[in-house]
Amino acid sequence: MGFKTWLAAIKAWLMGGTAEAATGLPRPVTGERPMGRVPVGGAVRSPVPVAPAFAAPAPAPSGSARARIHAAFDTGMPVESRAGLAGRSEELNRLVEAVIENGKHGIVFGARGSGKTSLSRVFGDLADEKGAVVLYNLASGDLSFSELYRPYLTELATIPGGGLRRGDIASLLDAPFDARALASILAERVRRPVILVLDEFDRVESAATKSEVAALMKLLTDMRATTRVVTVGIAANVEDLIQGHPSLRRHMVSVPVGGIGAESLKDLFVRCCTQAGLTVEDGAASEVASAAYGSPYHLRLFGLNCALAAEKAGVSRIDREIVRIGFGKAFADWRMLSATTADLLVRCAQLPTGHRFVIALIAYAAAMRTRVDQAEITALAIGDGSLDPAVVQAAFDMLRPILRPSAIDGQYLFDDALAPQFYLLLHSGRIDPQPADQGLRSDLRAFLEQGGPMA
Ligand SMILES: Nc1ncnc2c1ncn2[C@@H]1O[C@H](COP(=O)(O)OP(=O)(O)O)[C@@H](O)[C@H]1O
Ligand SMILES: [Mg+2]
Repeated sequence: MGFKTWLAAIKAWLMGGTAEAATGLPRPVTGERPMGRVPVGGAVRSPVPVAPAFAAPAPAPSGSARARIHAAFDTGMPVESRAGLAGRSEELNRLVEAVIENGKHGIVFGARGSGKTSLSRVFGDLADEKGAVVLYNLASGDLSFSELYRPYLTELATIPGGGLRRGDIASLLDAPFDARALASILAERVRRPVILVLDEFDRVESAATKSEVAALMKLLTDMRATTRVVTVGIAANVEDLIQGHPSLRRHMVSVPVGGIGAESLKDLFVRCCTQAGLTVEDGAASEVASAAYGSPYHLRLFGLNCALAAEKAGVSRIDREIVRIGFGKAFADWRMLSATTADLLVRCAQLPTGHRFVIALIAYAAAMRTRVDQAEITALAIGDGSLDPAVVQAAFDMLRPILRPSAIDGQYLFDDALAPQFYLLLHSGRIDPQPADQGLRSDLRAFLEQGGPMA
């Protein structure tokens, strides 16, 4: 289904149809294609451990039902195995074909929590099976080009048959180096396929460092090196990651990590429930899967809250009532951490119908494919004459404090990747927002009822 078609379907739903219309999520999972011709026998190493995308929940006492639930729905750890990766065959095939078979570099991008690190980890395993040496590193804001790439060199020098000896790289260990020096040494010395995965590339602040990474990709190709670079980062579009280097497009494949189909998310939810020792009603599972709007992170977060609600209620089956409690708890927890964003969304959900509808369209676009394109949303919203362009503009103005502009004019992404799905739940009445201070008030009431400060 094209983006316009599902936006049209969602429009019908947002304007008062049924929730089922919203489950027409894109991209059915296709079958596996045969991959790879590279000899077997590589190694996967991490110069630094990969950090979880989000803070992991506080661990419950091990062995308890709660600990089992937290382990099953863990939102803090990327998927490590192919079997655990839901609905990403197409993206995996695209990466394998372009990087391993056609020798291109790769750029993987999408929202926080969309599953970029998981995808690149599983890709790394596949590349490893096909004989490539795969090395990971995490970028951070203040690292220079040499600091970003030095760990790969030292790691490569420890791998038997990696092609690099410590003596070869001695000059690069103590002094800064540029893309040309790095590409030259890799092209001259390394004869086996090597893939350098650089995660969290969006954190790199220095334009000079970004530029050197772009130069590295081009030089490695020009020098016929066997090393390829796969960069991974949060972005609305590929331009956000390769700003100012359009010529790179020829040397690389871009892999957008968007929404996963609702059926794959439902399977994932049922799998997590089983692992947690719970069962789930079919309708309840569909509801959680559709509320995640394509995001495996939201699926796990909502699922975790539903499972904990079941445990608290002393039941082992998740039904729609438990799901309602779970959504409410997930929202309340998020609201405590992100009060400004959550309160803004609550106000948005109370706007007149036209404004609410446009904001829901914006949230839906962001949930399913990270970016929000103002021209596209405007065209869709005013297309059949039902809405005034001023309403669309007012909706964008309302969201301005929580939208981040992309490198492409008129495109945005949400600062907080949790926001779009929470808005859609508020919009459809599946979360009933209590006043922001309600929790505090009821805590205070309970405290006073128990004797308060005089006790
Ligand atoms: N395809 C997937 N199938 C199942 N779970 C996934 C998938 N992709 C991501 N997840 C889960 O979602 C959460 C966020 O994934 P992660 O790869 O860290 O996202 P990102 O790197 O885009 O921020 C993790 O809990 C991870 O286990
Ligand atoms: Mg990540």
